[in-house]
Amino acid sequence: MKTYLTRRYLFVASHRLHNASLSDVANREIFGRCNNPHGHGHNYFLEVTVSGQIAPETGMVCDVAALDSVVSREILDRFDHQNLNNIQDFSTITPTTENLAMRIQQILSGVPLPANLERVRIEETRNNSFEYMSRESEPGRER
Ligand code: NI
Repeated sequence: MKTYLTRRYLFVASHRLHNASLSDVANREIFGRCNNPHGHGHNYFLEVTVSGQIAPETGMVCDVAALDSVVSREILDRFDHQNLNNIQDFSTITPTTENLAMRIQQILSGVPLPANLERVRIEETRNNSFEYMSRESEPGRER
């Protein structure tokens, strides 16, 4: 049996959806207003879901403060108040929120966490959210 814990964080950042290997016309067709040269900002609500056994002595899956400290250091310090187009993570990929969720999942997979990483979910707007599941969390896979 596993128990899941989801913690929610907020960071603000801007992006411009643009693929330099495509023409300006193609970029406008694909990305529409999101290709505006000046970019635009979002309040990104990030949810990080971890799983584990409930520790008998604490009744908890993990120390939430320990999770917060990793997410702050690895993710919020890196992306908050940034123009995503200008940072190394997006030097070769377009900073869509799909790619941002994937990148955050990759970063968190590479550092010690106090419980198993299951899912990264980002709400970009009230109407858009994106999820990136750890491979082991995909339906049908045993772990
Ligand atoms: Ni956007």
